[in-house]
Amino acid sequence: MSVALSELSNGVLRLTMNRPAKKNALTQEMYGLLADGILNAQDNPDIRVILITGAGDAFTAGNDLSDFAGGDRDKGEELPVARFLRSLVENDKPLIAAVNGVAVGVGVTMLLHTDLVYAGASASFQVPFTNLGLVPEAASSLLLPLTVGIQRANELFLLGNRIDAAEAEKIGLILRAVADDELLDVANKAAAQLAAKAPTALKLTKQLVRQSKETLKQRMADESVHFGAQLKSPEFAEAVTAFAERRPADFSKIA
Ligand code: COA
Repeated sequence: MSVALSELSNGVLRLTMNRPAKKNALTQEMYGLLADGILNAQDNPDIRVILITGAGDAFTAGNDLSDFAGGDRDKGEELPVARFLRSLVENDKPLIAAVNGVAVGVGVTMLLHTDLVYAGASASFQVPFTNLGLVPEAASSLLLPLTVGIQRANELFLLGNRIDAAEAEKIGLILRAVADDELLDVANKAAAQLAAKAPTALKLTKQLVRQSKETLKQRMADESVHFGAQLKSPEFAEAVTAFAERRPADFSKIA
């Protein structure tokens, strides 16, 4: 079974992150498959809407902590993770997310590129970049403050706290929290509604509402410089070791 499922039905491309035993933590292979799905959809007139969700009880635990592909960043080639982030920027089709459980890291930052975000009541949201010795990515340093305001963005980014679906709805990070067992129905209904609409009007409206692609790509590039450097830092090394050892990270000896 593929780690990212792709299924087209009635104009809706459903992408499912599918590694439930690891809370759908994203590997380079998964990023590559998701990027293929989104980029190939652009020229396919049969695809009117893209819906992304997670298999099992998680949306995604974010980047796989043992698969950050740090070294390859220097070689100048576009890594699958970078292609996935670019696909979010290039995507002109309406994108819906059905957040069915934990959303961590890129599991949250991808939502800032999503046009309609629905979440089950038991979903949670966390961007623990600083907890890991890292910095925000996916242009989230621009988009999260714009979405929820600077103070709340700081609470999420600097404190790295997890919030629940009700709080996420209250601060405008998501559109709506619904009962867990109604989530797919609600998301599918919105997808069907969008699939029946005038595609060019939708595409233009999406482009007008969102930040320009150039702005987003520039911010991603700026973030990536710091992200790549931090991946090589003792702060990140300590955080990943601590996760593997199931203990809190100890940054007290790091200058
Ligand atoms: N990378 C790699 N493996 C991960 C992972 C990640 N980001 N998130 C979860 N897993 C693995 C766990 O190691 C565990 O594997 P194991 O069963 O082989 O030990 C399995 O997925 C289940 O995770 P577990 O921690 O037992 O589930 P939980 O429900 O108690 O907690 C999370 C779920 C997502 C809250 C917790 O796993 C977590 O905080 N993960 C790290 C998230 C993170 O920092 N992501 C990077 C953001 S930039």
